Amino acid sequence: MKITSAEFMKSVVNIKDIPTHNLKEIAFSGRSNVGKSSLINCLLNRKKLARTSVTPGKTRQLNYYRINEQFFFVDLPGYGFAKVSKAEMITWRQLIEEFITTSRNLRGVISIIDSRQGPTELDMQLIEWLDSLHKPLLLVATKTDKLSRSQLLNQMMKFSKQVEPYYKKPIIPFSAINGTGKQAIWDEILTLLE
Ligand code: GTP
Ligand code: MG
Repeated sequence: MKITSAEFMKSVVNIKDIPTHNLKEIAFSGRSNVGKSSLINCLLNRKKLARTSVTPGKTRQLNYYRINEQFFFVDLPGYGFAKVSKAEMITWRQLIEEFITTSRNLRGVISIIDSRQGPTELDMQLIEWLDSLHKPLLLVATKTDKLSRSQLLNQMMKFSKQVEPYYKKPIIPFSAINGTGKQAIWDEILTLLE
């Protein structure tokens, strides 16, 4: 995919500010610190477009990035970070749920899991929920640079079994460090955008 432009457009904290527009959207979800922003930057060949952080829970809003004037990447707030209050957790969840159920242009959700840990309980809830809504989903296992080849194979088999009732496609292994899986993810995104 040739990226001719990638620009930060908007941050949304409140449900009422979710924008209406005519461009298609691809959303990125996953627990806090899993590597959502790093995946977005890697796909766009940018180092710092989406803010990354070693401190979990940085992204507390929906961040919209307009790509090639043609579609949006929406970076969703990371969930499941222990240090936030219950009230804040509920606000995030409502924001994500509202976005996913009301967006008319959402073409797919890329759900990112850690290749060392697999889907968390909240990831499983999201996967199950998206399946029940018939929303297209793509599962990506990130940080594969932290595993050996055989560890990775084992993990992928385990995760595939775990999500099988709701997700039957292969999970894509990815690393923002060495670019593994980047092309495969772009191929899937382009199919979702067709
Ligand atoms: P929040 O916005 O807080 O929800 O986090 P996020 O999911 O956007 O994660 P982010 O991209 O900020 O990455 C979190 C940390 O993981 C950073 O220190 C990244 O450098 C690191 N990281 C992200 N992707 C990879 C990867 O593929 N490999 C390795 N080794 N580290 C990664
Ligand atoms: Mg982030």
